[in-house]
Amino acid sequence: MSLLTLDDVHTYYGEAHILQGVSLTVGEREVVTLIGRNGAGKTTTLRSIMGIVRARRGHVRLRGEDITGLGTHEIARRGIAWIPEERRVLPNLTVLENLRLGMLGGPTHRDGTDALEEVFGYFPRLRERIAHRGRFLSGGEQQMLAIARGLVSHPAVMLVDEPTEGLAPLLVQNLTEILSAINKRGTTILLVEQTLEVALALSHRVYVMDQGQIQFEGTPEQLRRDPTIQQRFLEI
Ligand SMILES: Nc1ncnc2c1ncn2[C@@H]1O[C@H](COP(=O)(O)OP(=O)(O)OP(=O)(O)O)[C@@H](O)[C@H]1O
Ligand SMILES: [Mg+2]
Repeated sequence: MSLLTLDDVHTYYGEAHILQGVSLTVGEREVVTLIGRNGAGKTTTLRSIMGIVRARRGHVRLRGEDITGLGTHEIARRGIAWIPEERRVLPNLTVLENLRLGMLGGPTHRDGTDALEEVFGYFPRLRERIAHRGRFLSGGEQQMLAIARGLVSHPAVMLVDEPTEGLAPLLVQNLTEILSAINKRGTTILLVEQTLEVALALSHRVYVMDQGQIQFEGTPEQLRRDPTIQQRFLEI
């Protein structure tokens, strides 16, 4: 059974019909990437999963259970962590306080020390910055903290929206490796990523989205070998 399923999801902002029948699946332990141009509806898909905007038609299911229409807090409690585009690190809280907040929202209340040790294993830089306030972190460190804060809640699936956006190439490479390591340790990831190379390197499967619809589904290899899809729907 797939872990997360979207079945014919239609989402509106006011009268604007943005998602027009999005169906996709994310299997246990997969990295699945949504890729597509600016405005394609990628973020809206993640927001529809989290119940931040409600799907007006269709269903979102977690382990077969219908979660469409539940509140965002309840969806997080059931095990979906959302790392938004804008990173949303709390500027006046320290790294440690940001991480402690992350532990509150998720499905399990594990031993805090274990969870912290695990994320510091992935992000040694955050351990060095543990007492620094969010606003004094670099862009890359903020992104690491945003991901770490999702991870300490031990989610069943993490939705990560454009984690590499605006980062220097070396950091992009570093973050790609960390996300891959997180997945190999058992976390399922639904990723939104504009950089084709990052998407191809990380994903088990890829969905290409355009104008609120899924236009292609396949393995990274299949997308690599399909210049028509790349030219029609991606900025390359
Ligand atoms: N709050 C909103 N109110 C009205 N329209 C919105 C709102 N948010 C997004 N839209 C519109 O919905 C469409 C899809 O936006 P969305 O943010 O999902 O795209 P995206 O694929 O994530 O793009 P990007 O790559 O730029 O992040 C766009 O046309 C956008 O202008
Ligand atoms: Mg977006």
